[in-house]
Amino acid sequence: MDNANTADSGLDPREFRNALGCFATGVMVMTSAGGAEGLIGVTINSFSSVSLDPPLVSFCIADSLTEFETLLKTDHFALNVLREDQQDLSNQFAKTGPDKWRGVSYREGSNSAPIIEPNHAVLLCTKQSQLECGDHVIVVARVEEVEFGDDEPPLVFYKGQYRQLS
Ligand SMILES: Cc1cc2nc3c(=O)[nH]c(=O)nc-3n(C[C@H](O)[C@H](O)[C@H](O)COP(=O)(O)O)c2cc1C
Repeated sequence: MDNANTADSGLDPREFRNALGCFATGVMVMTSAGGAEGLIGVTINSFSSVSLDPPLVSFCIADSLTEFETLLKTDHFALNVLREDQQDLSNQFAKTGPDKWRGVSYREGSNSAPIIEPNHAVLLCTKQSQLECGDHVIVVARVEEVEFGDDEPPLVFYKGQYRQLS
């Protein structure tokens, strides 16, 4: 496989990011009980559905994440789909530091991962496989349980900014 860097391949890194930003996504906080290190929470938008039967999804984690090594060893996650009014929460879980969980309401899911409340929806997952790809690892996870929040619309991310569906 050709592992040339973005710039080496002739692609302008800024343009590449801009192109990726043209794909509108929702926003999730991936959470895990994390073991000895305590709770883990990371804002992600690299989520993708993979398979309906069996029920598989994927997301990508950057090798720069503070809890990267712990996440590689973590088997149980919650993927918390954020609501339109949870932009601050998205920013909180995207910032490095000890305060990620300050003021956050959550309860323990059946797989021990924290479920953020309120939420638009939640997928409780068990890791099935992971694949190193460039500066990220693709995690493929089996969805064991789903929950739906209320009718508040989801948070949308497009061209580097939060958006509203309407
Ligand atoms: C909207 C949004 C989407 C993000 N998506 C991802 C993602 O899919 N994968 C990832 O590794 N980081 C993603 N990030 C960045 C991480 O949230 C951020 O690097 C991390 O939470 C920093 O905390 P840490 O240093 O404690 O790991 C995203 C950030 C934002 C604001």
